[in-house]
Amino acid sequence: MGFLQILSARKVYQTPEGSSVQALDDVTINIRNNEFLTLLGPSGCGKTTLLKCIAGFEDLDGGDLILDSKSLRSVPPHKRPFNTVFQNYALFPHMTVEQNVAYGMEVAGVSKVERDRRAGEALDLVGLSGFGGRRPTQLSGGQQQRVALARSLVLKPKVLLLDEPLSALDRKMRETMQIELKNLQHAVGITFVFVTHDQEEALAMSDRIAVLAQGRLQQLDTPTEVYDKPANEFVANFVGTSNMFAGTVASISGDRVILETGNGRRLAATSTAFRVGDQVRLVLRPEHLTILARDETGDADVPAIEGRVRETVFVGSTMQVHADIGHGRTALVSHPHTRRGSSDIAPGAEVRIGYSAASGHLIPMRSA
Ligand SMILES: Nc1ncnc2c1ncn2[C@@H]1O[C@H](COP(=O)(O)OP(=O)(O)OP(=O)(O)O)[C@@H](O)[C@H]1O
Ligand SMILES: [Mg+2]
Repeated sequence: MGFLQILSARKVYQTPEGSSVQALDDVTINIRNNEFLTLLGPSGCGKTTLLKCIAGFEDLDGGDLILDSKSLRSVPPHKRPFNTVFQNYALFPHMTVEQNVAYGMEVAGVSKVERDRRAGEALDLVGLSGFGGRRPTQLSGGQQQRVALARSLVLKPKVLLLDEPLSALDRKMRETMQIELKNLQHAVGITFVFVTHDQEEALAMSDRIAVLAQGRLQQLDTPTEVYDKPANEFVANFVGTSNMFAGTVASISGDRVILETGNGRRLAATSTAFRVGDQVRLVLRPEHLTILARDETGDADVPAIEGRVRETVFVGSTMQVHADIGHGRTALVSHPHTRRGSSDIAPGAEVRIGYSAASGHLIPMRSA
């Protein structure tokens, strides 16, 4: 049983245009104590709605929210032991950093001595001791972000709800803050529910990721599981880049599955979840494919994919090779520069693309 349970949550908005939007459709997530849980999904999938329902700013139309075995549905927002960090920080411009951080405690009736002590501690925790006397306009975006965090942390919530808190920062700052936020979460031992539409951010920071699309939960798993074993086509495309092949399971021997695509291509995967005749999709990540050197045979009895290089893109650590593989299809191969035969890879070159059956992940054809 989870510590904070979201049970079959439903939310329907009536729009001014007179239609209705199902923003949450039967979402169940058991959030664990001290967990860093990320809600990941494209714009409009219901992430903010779910946060607002947890915080109590919106009511659910169906389902329930249980904290420590008690329903929260009749508990008003200010009585819930949660705090929200909004995307735009919403700092008070006329107050100093210290006053911003202490404000919530003042409202809660915490004594001045205690307020000063806790504000000092929180600013220290986010690396901003010495900045207490400044106003928000005298800080960088990342520093303002950290003030917003400190302001929420001093209230010692059981759960901190964070709505795309890093989206306004530049890439370097974002990466630094990702690590800082993760460390902070470990240090304070508070459950974080973190919203992002950035899959790399979700993979880097989370204990578990809940992938949402159109108000529905698609997958709830660790970052590795979500990346290596996407539950369906949506997740395979949204998290990372995938080469995907539709086909029919032609033969199975042990956990080795051979599938055949409509145009006669034979491909291999490892799975025990399917039967001969099942319609499936094979997911191969670009880094699972390699361009074989002339004398290489690749994995035994995995048929290599024949192709012709259309384009190569240098992305620093690897080369992204786009290869035409027939029937109007392109494969994307992420090829390390250091691999043998790399110098032969140029537009127009005929190549054989290899992979191991173990890296081939199968998903059922008819999943959402
Ligand atoms: N108050 C509202 N009235 C009507 N529709 C709404 C309202 N708030 C949100 N919606 C709709 O509900 C859906 C989910 O919105 P939500 O804000 O939860 O998305 P999101 O996942 O947070 O997206 P983003 O990444 O863009 O912030 C969208 O289709 C949105 O247009
Ligand atoms: Mg949102």
